[in-house]
Amino acid sequence: MNQTIRFTLNGKPVSVTTDPERMLLWVLRTDLGLTGAKFGCGEGFCGACTVAVDGRAVRSCQTPLRTIEGKKVLTIEGLEKDGRLHPLQEAFMKHDALQCGYCTPGVIMTAWSLLESKPKPTDKDIIDALEGNLCRCSSYNRIVRAVREAAGAVKGA
Ligand code: FES
Ligand code: FES
Repeated sequence: MNQTIRFTLNGKPVSVTTDPERMLLWVLRTDLGLTGAKFGCGEGFCGACTVAVDGRAVRSCQTPLRTIEGKKVLTIEGLEKDGRLHPLQEAFMKHDALQCGYCTPGVIMTAWSLLESKPKPTDKDIIDALEGNLCRCSSYNRIVRAVREAAGAVKGA
């Protein structure tokens, strides 16, 4: 049976009336038109669908809509502020930390969540946090470099 689920999406209140067992990824992409979070494996293994819920990185392909009632969801589309990219986005461009870009929204949202909980991460912290985000283009070294630089910029912001 359909249910109305209310939550905050990228700083704005939204409500969606649908089957509450549907996964957040599909509600974001098909109901709300936010296609930044990507479908990869659909089973929680690749990280392409990662968004932040109440500041923590979650796999939206494994997150039933009912579980986000009243929570704050942040997607890659919500990172820029006043037309300015987030330091993570700037650093990914500067370091060419992507090739096809398919993994990038999920990688950046995982990195964002890391910096929320640990603003001064070591390289090991970065590698550990991103371990579950697969990049088929193998941009891993450049991704770590970009997150390291963004951490410095976020601290100084
Ligand atoms: S699509 Fe969600 S983890 Fe792969
Ligand atoms: S840049 Fe292509 S999958 Fe990561």
